Amino acid sequence: MAVASDRDLTTAIGSEHNRLKDLKAFDNTKTGVKGLVDAGIVKIPKIFIRPPDDILKASAAVLTHIQIPIIDLDGVENDRRLEIVDEIQHASETWGFFQVVNHGVPVSVLDEMIEGVRRFFEQPDEVKMEYYTRDSKRKVSYSSNFDLYQSTAANWRDTLLCNMAPDSLEPHELPAACRDIKLEYSKYLTGLGTTLFELLSEALGLNSNYLKGMGCARRHTILSHYYPPCPEPDLTLGTTHHSDNDFITVLLQDHIGGLQVLHQNQWVDVSPAHGALVVNVGDLLQLISNDKLKSVEHRVLANRVGPRISVACFFTTHLHPSTKVYGPIKELVSDENPPKYRETTVLDYVTYYQAKGLDGKSALDHFKL
Ligand code: OGA
Ligand code: NI
Repeated sequence: MAVASDRDLTTAIGSEHNRLKDLKAFDNTKTGVKGLVDAGIVKIPKIFIRPPDDILKASAAVLTHIQIPIIDLDGVENDRRLEIVDEIQHASETWGFFQVVNHGVPVSVLDEMIEGVRRFFEQPDEVKMEYYTRDSKRKVSYSSNFDLYQSTAANWRDTLLCNMAPDSLEPHELPAACRDIKLEYSKYLTGLGTTLFELLSEALGLNSNYLKGMGCARRHTILSHYYPPCPEPDLTLGTTHHSDNDFITVLLQDHIGGLQVLHQNQWVDVSPAHGALVVNVGDLLQLISNDKLKSVEHRVLANRVGPRISVACFFTTHLHPSTKVYGPIKELVSDENPPKYRETTVLDYVTYYQAKGLDGKSALDHFKL
């Protein structure tokens, strides 16, 4: 049996200490990954470098000849509804991911949303730093790597989080650089979210209003991600592989690319399509659907080219804690198909997820019966 010598142990503790020191120094700059790139670094700092076996595993083949389904929502209120529900059911059961077009959000709004995020991150540091915080209960927060102190390697990404609960966020609380467009985008996404939850309810064989009735569509948090260009993209990641801790996510991405979805154990590129939105099933929808719909792992590669900008709208309620518990929907379980998960509040789920950080393992396992 191998026993660590005293020297090994001292070295390990010493490097842990240095890492913590480096993480704190990076955090204290309050200018994120973009600050490093602005300073002209040509080698990425150690805190971003993934463990060697992780790099090896992640270099597995990428399937380029297949695509996640693209679903046209035109006709959803009339003749094409059944067909669309069918497509959504198939995509959510097999891929956990699909893109939607003709979703009702004007392309001009999508483009301006991306530009608004660019304006926020590219404004003078002094203005941006005002929003820098790790207090996850704040309605608006800017930071780099929500799991900076938990993960084994930091990601090449900065994020602005806005909790768009319409009844508690005053417009002036939003950063001026993207205030108007965030409010407009949020209104459109409320509408699209409602439609998607109706379609997903029908895809589960429930009445249209079922998921809305459970509160799934009620609130959303918008995460605006900024992935600066990376001088050594093979050594790090834009976002470590993970599944989302919400009911569903609707993602807007710019033209750069880098998002990949795990499908049948291989990575598949989610190619940018101007005007389309990416929809994915989150852990909480997998839990309440008793594994019928799949919350699938995805990641974002780092890239020499950038910045890449994406806007992820998380339909979830953890920033408005309630005692409501969610477990497998009773209509979806039977003697032959018993509940696979215990009940949880949204806040308990998210708290567990965030404490764990993005480590490549699903937080759902912790809630399995
Ligand atoms: C996320 C996410 C993907 C992207 O925010 O959870 O997976 O393209 N984002 O930024
Ligand atoms: Ni995600």
